[in-house]
Amino acid sequence: MPIVVVVGGQWGDEGKGRIVDLLARKARVVARYSAGNNAGHTVVNDRGEFRLHLVPAGIFYPEKTCVIGNGVAIDPEVLLDEIAQLQSRGIDTSRLVVSDRAQVIMPWHKLIDRLDEQLRGANAIGTTGKGVGPCFVDKVARRGIRVADLLRTEDLVERVKPALEFANRLITGVYGADPISFTECIERYKEFGQRLKPYVGDVQSIILEAHRRGEHVLLEGAQGSLLDLDHGTYPYVTSSVPSSSSGGAALGVGIGPTEISRVVGVFKSYCTRVGNGPFPTELFDETAEKLRDHGKEHGHGEYGTTTGRPRRIGWLDAVAARYSVRFNGLSAVALTRLDVLDDLPAIKICTAYELGGRIIDTLPASDSLLRQVRPVYEELPGWQQPTTHCRSFDDLPPQAKAFVRRVEELLQCPVDLISVGPEREQAIIVNPIF
Ligand code: IMP
Ligand code: MG
Repeated sequence: MPIVVVVGGQWGDEGKGRIVDLLARKARVVARYSAGNNAGHTVVNDRGEFRLHLVPAGIFYPEKTCVIGNGVAIDPEVLLDEIAQLQSRGIDTSRLVVSDRAQVIMPWHKLIDRLDEQLRGANAIGTTGKGVGPCFVDKVARRGIRVADLLRTEDLVERVKPALEFANRLITGVYGADPISFTECIERYKEFGQRLKPYVGDVQSIILEAHRRGEHVLLEGAQGSLLDLDHGTYPYVTSSVPSSSSGGAALGVGIGPTEISRVVGVFKSYCTRVGNGPFPTELFDETAEKLRDHGKEHGHGEYGTTTGRPRRIGWLDAVAARYSVRFNGLSAVALTRLDVLDDLPAIKICTAYELGGRIIDTLPASDSLLRQVRPVYEELPGWQQPTTHCRSFDDLPPQAKAFVRRVEELLQCPVDLISVGPEREQAIIVNPIF
């Protein structure tokens, strides 16, 4: 039975939570494999609206095992809080398993995240400030603290001592801020470890055993491929591997790339980005306002789930999207928020870039060149009628069908799923993914 990966195709917030919630119905195991609580998923179901940062979106179905893989940076305080909130709203969290190999976000990571952004000044990345970047820096520097280390005080002390000593030198020497107390840190994290203990387990075995038993497994990406450390718009990226390329998803839960059978990329019908960095199709006019505030009164406007920041808005960038289709090796596209375009008289898609008088159809690696590209647009007629009630491809107005078909052509990937509203059933399954 397939292991299916769901990745964000753009700069995050494409509606992965919603797609995962839909696909989770058929899965036995749902796993998060990357990022940390910089990510935010909004899920709307019969129990209400939930904003998740670490717990996989499969948690709302009883009988599903939800796992947080080794590739995720975990802030224990945030995770315990999220668990408590879910429990207080009647959601059973006993099926949650956290990898003992996952990295832990420590107090100095959060502090350094903020201090480093200040130091960068005008070149700030616009991070979410959750300490995820500095946590991955320590991981790569082989100074990181892992979930397994939280469970035994001797290990915790031994691991934190040199890591904090280094961090405090950085905090005081480079950033000129006050150091972090070792004893306070140990006391807090020792307690977190004890509270997390019941959830800690061997994620890899859970996934592989479910796979061998012939059950469906869903690997849930966070953020977007264009924020990928390797393939994204560097340096305005996140510090982990949101994409499925180079087996990011497999790496993040401890399985081989050959176990993955399909990769679904989630793309918005337009584009958004939070934080700084190039965004060729960005709009600053009233269309941007209109798209940002669509559904705002119900909390579905384009404002960050994690930080509340207004998202930057633009037309669908098919150059960036096709690049993302390629490096993720996507088997299918899930196109979300089609209904947000319902009122528009005309819809644009960027099909190429103009750079120094030349037309190009790939994303330049250089940040400064990417800032210079000018989008070449194709304009399609809008449908100017609601699509929120559509449940099959044939229910869509002809102009909306033409838009979807054109997206398929430009992205060179089939659109297997379309979402037309935030509710679970407001979706069109063009081809079943499981
Ligand atoms: P960091 O991941 O907090 O270090 O932030 C790095 C960049 O990734 C910033 O531009 C953030 O706004 C962006 N980012 C991080 N997580 C998400 C997410 O879940 N959705 C959208 N953007 C994100
Ligand atoms: Mg989000």
